[in-house]
Amino acid sequence: MTSNALKRLAAEHALDLIEPGMRLGLGTGSTARHLVDLLGARVKAGLDVLCVPTSEATRIQARELGIPLTTLDDTPMLDLTIDGADELDADLRLIKGGGGALLREKIVATASERMVVIADNSKRVDMLGAFPLPVEVVRFGFAATRNMIEMLAADAGCRGEIKLRMGQDRQPFVTDGGNYIFDCAFGRIEEPDALDEALKLIPGVVENGMFLGIADAAIIAGPDGIEVIEDQFDLEGSAL
Ligand code: A5P
Repeated sequence: MTSNALKRLAAEHALDLIEPGMRLGLGTGSTARHLVDLLGARVKAGLDVLCVPTSEATRIQARELGIPLTTLDDTPMLDLTIDGADELDADLRLIKGGGGALLREKIVATASERMVVIADNSKRVDMLGAFPLPVEVVRFGFAATRNMIEMLAADAGCRGEIKLRMGQDRQPFVTDGGNYIFDCAFGRIEEPDALDEALKLIPGVVENGMFLGIADAAIIAGPDGIEVIEDQFDLEGSAL
């Protein structure tokens, strides 16, 4: 099975979690794209849901499929967010933001009662960090912010190349929120909490792509089928 087919399989499995009347957060990326496609077909068949997209790309896709959309301003509490990830470990800690949507993804996920990750099994890691950590920064003073990231990340035990993300037009990539992204190739993030705390101390940093204590479950598709990881504190009442 191709990685794309595995992503679709994970998305199909997640579809079973969606119930009529739910307020949903819709993720971003190639895996979430499958979910939105499948959801569109269900909506066409009469499913009643109300959704908040985590990016302009997802908003456009969902709108074209006729999925009813709202905003977090009008609907500040959601039942469930389903989104992809660039890396996830056994404790459901994630790196996200490969597609540049980490800020809205984190805002939407934390506004949701549950966040469920969908992924193919290539995303499973023993330790976060092989995927360069996206760090979203405001444009003002971004070079100074980069130096601060380098210094404070080193204090948290993380060193590696920190590169400003570029777009296809060879200009700096700009997020939906109008910010830049540094991709930090740390290789290994031994202490995600320490790094997260360090990054939060830097005024120019808007958010980083580590999702710690946010995901409640993950649906991972591999050649042998579906594996579900669930937060041990969250098992009661699980629908998975
Ligand atoms: C978007 O900013 C990301 O967080 C995506 O959710 C993540 O990159 C996973 O993307 P794929 O599903 O395309 O692998």
